[in-house]
Amino acid sequence: HGEPLIVDDVRQDDRYYPRIAQDHAYPTHSILAVPMIVRGNVIGVLQVLNRTSGTRFTPADQELLTAFSAQSAVVIENARLYQSLRDERDRIVAVEEEVRHRLARDIHDGPAQMLAAVIMGTSFVREALTHERMDVALKELDEMVPVAEKALRQLRTLLFDLRPVTLETKGLIPALESYARMLGQNERFTVELHVADEVPRLTHSAESVIFQVVQEAISNIRKHANASHVDVRVAVEKGGQLAVSVQDNGVGFDTAQIERASEEKGSLGMLNMRERARTVNGVLGVVSQPGQGTTVSLRVPIKPNLARVTEADATQPLVSA
Ligand SMILES: Nc1ncnc2c1ncn2[C@@H]1O[C@H](COP(=O)(O)OP(=O)(O)OP(=O)(O)O)[C@@H](O)[C@H]1O
Ligand SMILES: [Mg+2]
Repeated sequence: HGEPLIVDDVRQDDRYYPRIAQDHAYPTHSILAVPMIVRGNVIGVLQVLNRTSGTRFTPADQELLTAFSAQSAVVIENARLYQSLRDERDRIVAVEEEVRHRLARDIHDGPAQMLAAVIMGTSFVREALTHERMDVALKELDEMVPVAEKALRQLRTLLFDLRPVTLETKGLIPALESYARMLGQNERFTVELHVADEVPRLTHSAESVIFQVVQEAISNIRKHANASHVDVRVAVEKGGQLAVSVQDNGVGFDTAQIERASEEKGSLGMLNMRERARTVNGVLGVVSQPGQGTTVSLRVPIKPNLARVTEADATQPLVSA
């Protein structure tokens, strides 16, 4: 109950749990117990048993143990905090590693293969020209150009994904604007960005989490949705949340089934989005049904993630918390 306690004879006290003493063959007579308290929370109890002289525990004993307990509690709490910081860091490192992995795979499957095709094409053209087959050479060139253009587009997208410069310099909304513009030029779907009037500037880490979630949602749309239109919305909700959603009109999917299958397939996109959201106390939601399109939404509490004034930029109005 958060209060120190002296029990002179445990056999007279039905709160006493005798098993531990029996297990250790340590006959217990008297107990002095004090709570270990950190910032008002009891995190444990420190007990001493059987005063050596056989006499009773005194208030002075209790005072001494209470002081000792307060110090130990702080030490234990610090160790726990340190451990949870390390766990957090390990998780972030794992997510970053995963992102590099996927980037490598995307380059391998995309631009690298297209470049290989273009190189093969050039030797084919050369061969045709040495045999004076202009028609064959021209036809091959006509096929090569779109492949090279596509490789360039994909590389530009990858570069943008890797280092959204606008995000660092101007913040979330300008970054989303230029991202949407770039997608509009390079993708088969159109992208429309809807932004609420007053979006406050958040810390750099919160803004990059939001941006990365949008990127992963877009990358899923590109790969799986076969959509013709995407709406990206940024709104400030009544409860002090920034809500960002990415909605496509594509094929949709069965969320429960995918969740079950994702472990064996080793697909990590959704998991990464959830993990990232958690680092800024955000919550990710995915709503989808076959034939009904997909909406990925992220809610981030504004107040704990507000940028300090020095971090903010004049291009977005600051809302006082
Ligand atoms: N916008 C979408 N439209 C249709 N299906 C989707 C959409 N987003 C996700 N999915 C489905 O959900 C699955 C899981 O997505 P997730 O991003 O976790 O993995 P992935 O994209 O397959 O692989 P990874 O992201 O690791 O490259 C996808 O394989 C796809 O079947
Ligand atoms: Mg994915």
